[in-house]
Amino acid sequence: MAHTVDSLFNALWADYQTQCPSATAVHRLLGGGQPIINDHVAFRTFNLPEVELDKLAAHFLALGYEPKGEYRFEQKKLKARHFEHPNPKAPKVFISELLLEECSVELQATVKALVAQLPAGATEAEEFLYSGARWQVSQAQYRALLAESEYAAWLAAFGYRANHFTVNVNELEQFATLGAVNQALKDAGFELNASGGEIKGSAEVLLEQSSTLADKVAVRFSDGEAIIPSCFYEFALRYPQADGTLYTGFVAASADKIFESTDAR
Ligand code: NI
Repeated sequence: MAHTVDSLFNALWADYQTQCPSATAVHRLLGGGQPIINDHVAFRTFNLPEVELDKLAAHFLALGYEPKGEYRFEQKKLKARHFEHPNPKAPKVFISELLLEECSVELQATVKALVAQLPAGATEAEEFLYSGARWQVSQAQYRALLAESEYAAWLAAFGYRANHFTVNVNELEQFATLGAVNQALKDAGFELNASGGEIKGSAEVLLEQSSTLADKVAVRFSDGEAIIPSCFYEFALRYPQADGTLYTGFVAASADKIFESTDAR
């Protein structure tokens, strides 16, 4: 049976919790037992025709999502697009892709060899967006990718799944500011991504974001297991625009720093 918006996000959340075990504890801490509304969920891919951004987006377009803002991250060699559903309570979706033609020939060769291992029609499968890394990758390949692009290394190790979920802070009853959320997280022992400051963005750009540093999990590489940074949890507070409605876009300069939440420490 085809996914509904709810069933897809439930499946994504179940998979995400296996890669980001602290998400469950963060949920409990911030929600105080109440359900948490997600601002957005983010995905990563490569811009090869077999797996490009549009292949991931197709799953959301089929559920009524519409393409919105486009973003470019020059330094990280990424392009991104965000999607919104007519139901404002449905999470926004942020999909980025690595522009391989801007990367080294070695990186391109490794990535092409990984993607070539995907079965035909893999991206159309209902479970594609939480199917993980369905290819063999060695620790040496992972480290070589990591030296050039943290993004590529993460994607090689973890594949297709939510890179992060994001708490909609506007909808939290017990917290009025992102600073208060961050303080509660730190008091509970969670580490925040401090790249560019704990709070990325401001009221002036209508969006404030923060995130935890990625959890670490054991990944089975083709030549053994290693413990590496996996997924993280993000927090977003949105401000009203001139017409009174909340800003729904993203701020490239902030997202640029958020990407660093999965950096190896
Ligand atoms: Ni995000």
